[in-house]
Amino acid sequence: EQNPENITVEQRGRVGLITLNRPKALNALNRDLMEEVIAAARAFDTDPAVGAIVITGSEKAFAAGADIKEMQSRSFSDVYGGDLFSDWDRITKIRKPIIAAVAGYALGGGCELAMMCDLIIAADSAKFGQPEINLGVIPGMGGTQRLTRAVGKSKAMDLVLTGRMMDAEEAERSGLVARIVPAAELVDAAVAVAETIGAKSLPVVMMAKEAVNVALETTLSEGVRFERRTFFSTFATEDQKEGMSAFVEKRDPEFKHR
Ligand code: CAA
Repeated sequence: EQNPENITVEQRGRVGLITLNRPKALNALNRDLMEEVIAAARAFDTDPAVGAIVITGSEKAFAAGADIKEMQSRSFSDVYGGDLFSDWDRITKIRKPIIAAVAGYALGGGCELAMMCDLIIAADSAKFGQPEINLGVIPGMGGTQRLTRAVGKSKAMDLVLTGRMMDAEEAERSGLVARIVPAAELVDAAVAVAETIGAKSLPVVMMAKEAVNVALETTLSEGVRFERRTFFSTFATEDQKEGMSAFVEKRDPEFKHR
């Protein structure tokens, strides 16, 4: 693995932390940055010492979108032939939970990357938007789909058609954001949530993530069936025995992640 140039990667306890670090372009998501984020996320996903992942940016910007300068002069046959942005789908194949910790701008592809994560924790300074319409394009990393599922049709249309930004309060009220924290505490707060998750049984956490995601892809009856089968599978883990024994014995569980 080469040393990444557009991100920093560190481990805090059982939490893998990926920080977008391309300040001269407000963390605009160019090809190199994308490849580095995906490689880092995959490395954490296969590392048994990591239970959850946090992706964050800077105080000023989570990410201000796809790199406009990189896209500006490309042709239809170029973006179509190269299936531009499709590689980002690999983030959604990560099986461990990913928290997006968003301060400042999360615009266009930045908002879309945050929405590919499992939950968003926002600083009070966060601003979300899909401003692609102002550039003569539409969202291309899932924004029309994930934003609509997150906030409903009317607000998604408002944001996608006008290109306006919404602040953290509006984003939380609308269901896009799980929690708002003071900007100065953002990364610590997100890492603390990831630590809480990382202390649970990893295979069971992965099953829980998979089951919630099925809700967005299937019918209610199929989804409930998937959940029930997956719930039954948790009884094949040692951690189910440990979790239930600990409750009965009035002590804290010590999950072994198996
Ligand atoms: N791509 C490339 N460079 C970007 C960028 C982007 N998305 N966003 C910001 N930058 C660059 C600016 O060009 C500027 O570079 P220079 O100093 O070399 O001029 C630097 O970052 C700082 O930006 P600003 O001077 O504009 O900072 P500001 O504080 O005045 O404004 C902002 C901040 C409102 C976020 C503004 O930068 C902005 O509107 N950015 C573009 C947002 C946008 O349109 N995003 C959608 C991109 S398209 C997309 O994402 C498609 C998709 O669906 C995947």
